[in-house]
Parts: sequence; C-alpha cells; structure tokens
Amino acid sequence: MTSVTRDQVLDALRRVHDPELRKDLVTLNMVKDIAVREGDIRIGIELTTPACPLKDAIRSDVEREVRRLPGVRSIDIDWTAQVRATIRSQNALPGVKNIIAVGAGKGGVGKSTIAVILAAGLHRSGARVGLLDADVYGPSIPKMVGLENERPSVRGEKILPLTAGGVFVMSMGFMVEPERAVIWRGPMVHGVIKQFLDQVEWGELDYLIVDLPPGTGDVPLTLSQSIPMTGAVVVCTPQDVALLDAIKALRMYQQLNVDILGIVENMSYFIAPDTGKEYDIFGRGGAEKAAARLKVPFLGAIPLNVAIRVGGDTGNPLTAFDETDPATAKAVDAFVRTAAGQVSIRNVLRPAPLDLKIT
Ligand SMILES: Nc1ncnc2c1ncn2[C@@H]1O[C@H](COP(=O)(O)OP(=O)(O)O)[C@@H](O)[C@H]1O
Ligand SMILES: [Mg+2]
Repeated sequence: MTSVTRDQVLDALRRVHDPELRKDLVTLNMVKDIAVREGDIRIGIELTTPACPLKDAIRSDVEREVRRLPGVRSIDIDWTAQVRATIRSQNALPGVKNIIAVGAGKGGVGKSTIAVILAAGLHRSGARVGLLDADVYGPSIPKMVGLENERPSVRGEKILPLTAGGVFVMSMGFMVEPERAVIWRGPMVHGVIKQFLDQVEWGELDYLIVDLPPGTGDVPLTLSQSIPMTGAVVVCTPQDVALLDAIKALRMYQQLNVDILGIVENMSYFIAPDTGKEYDIFGRGGAEKAAARLKVPFLGAIPLNVAIRVGGDTGNPLTAFDETDPATAKAVDAFVRTAAGQVSIRNVLRPAPLDLKIT
C-alpha cells in the first residue's frame, strides 16, 4: 500500500477553509508544519488568536479532509496561536498588536464591566493583554480590579502599568483625582491624554482594551486620533437598543473613524442564582436585531448577574465564574471568542502595513 505523502496532506489542508476568514488554511499561513511517518500524520496549526471561536470546527474539517487520503492511520494536531497585528508600531504604541475600544452611547450600561470581562477573558485564553481606563471623567477600573490604592511605578520617563490577575492595567485614575478631571476641557484633555499615551510602557501586547468615556467628546476624539484602533465593541443594554440608539452609537464611531467590531448586549437577561433559571426582564435580543439591521456583527449577550456586580464593586471581576456560575461563564466565553474572531477577521482583511525598518 502506498503511504500518504506530505504534499497530499498539504493539498488536503488547502480544502479546509477557516469558516470566518473564508480562506484556506494554507493561504492563511496557518499550517506551520506537517510530519508524515507511515500513516501517522502530525500537523502544526497556528491560530490567529488563542481565543479562536472556531478551533473545533477547524479540527473536524482537517480530520475529515485528511482522513480521505489513502493510508492515513492517525492524525495529531499541534495547536499554537499567534495574534496578528492590525497596526504595526506607528510610534504611537510600539509592541501593541491590536487596540480594542469599548464604548457606549451613554454611561451606566456596563462599559467598564465589559472592558474588564473582555480583558480577563482574552488573558485566560493565553493572550498578553492590557487594559487602559481612558474614562477620565469616571475612571472606575482601578476599583473594579482591586487596584484602587495602588500607584504605578515610574522608570526613567516611563510609567509602568500595574497588573491585576495577569492583565496589565493603567488608568487616568492613578494619575489624577477624578474630581479634578471633571473640569478639564478640550485642549487640556488633549495634552494630558497624549502625554499619558506616550509615557506608558506596555511592552508587547496582543490586545489592549480601552475603556472609553461615553459620547464623542474630547477624550474619544483625541484617543482615536492618537492611537490606531482595531475597532470598537459597542455596549448596549436591552432597554436602549431601540434601533435609533444603536444607530447613534455606531454613527459616533464612524465620526471618530473607528471600525465597529460589533455590538454586545449587557444585562441582557437574568439568571437566578439559586435555580439557574433565565428570565428575560427587559426583552432580550434587541441588540441582536439591531446588529442584523445595521449589518454589524453581534458579539453576544451577557446576563445580569449578581456575581458580576459584586465582583465589579468589590474589586474582583477577573473571575471566570466557572464553578459558581457555568451559564454566565459560557456567555462570557462566547462573547470573548466572538470579539477575538472579529479582530482576526479584520487583520486578515486589512493586514498590517509591512514594517519597513531599514537595518
Ligand atoms: N452584567 C452585569 N450584571 C450585573 N451587574 C452589572 C453588569 N454589568 C454591569 N453591572 C453593574 O452596573 C454598574 C455600572 O456598570 P459599569 O461597568 O460601571 O458601567 P459604565 O462603565 O458603562 O458606566 C456597576 O455597578 C456594575 O457592577
Ligand atoms: Mg465606566
């Protein structure tokens, strides 16, 4: 019996398409190596994010296509992940591959909570993650992640972020009293933010999550002009997802020239802590319908959950909810993976300009 060859395996992998990126694994440069020993095949596949939502689909497609080849005995896949960059160091934030803004049309919808959940989830998947609290008017991240009384250290001209549960954290709240920030206006905010951005030493990050203040004021404007954003996650609650509100939020990011990664519905439904039963208090699903009408991705629905609120208000929202609340853990995980998938899609559709360093 003729034994299967490396080239045959490679050809089979050309027939496997990433369901989201809509190209085959070979073209996408996701096949890192193929080893064939008799009928035993080992394939190295590099995902575009450790939080890949489609790993299982890719696995079964690879197995199906490769099994069709004659003489295949076993298939072993080695998974690795390399987050691709949307933005290559345009001096702004060298070393940061993707910058994801979390925004909302208005305050109180859980923007900071979603920013923390997203950062923590990406970190859990194995990515290097930073969280920047740019909500100068209401910096709440330090309290949420239990760093309220800490101050970042300074090395030379640089400010070093603090860490919470493995996520690098920086907040305007570390630098100024929130009561003082409220009176800042245009040019002043612009100067402070720019200086702040220049001075924070993030190091190498796969994702930097930015908690933006609501609206189209000076801060979002300065930020979107100063740092190249991969895109924005727009947070809605079921109450305000009348189509008009969603349109307003999306238009805001269009004005700021920031791509939309998608809409997430927060406090979407209630899970009773004792029974695990789900209640649609506010009419769940509004954001999903709005997203479909507006042709932007729907990223998921996060339940109204006591554990999230308690965590958020007592400085420990970095928990995975795994043991305490598997339903919430599942919803959070699905949102994080869908958002990471949207970042990967953008990186493939709009690849980073080549880093033309002259050496
Ligand atoms: N999914 C949720 N379940 C329970 N409480 C939540 C949830 N999302 C946010 N909260 C709570 O709602 C309040 C407002 O959330 P926050 O993230 O600070 O909003 P924003 O940043 O948009 O002003 C906080 O007390 C937070 O803990
Ligand atoms: Mg907030």
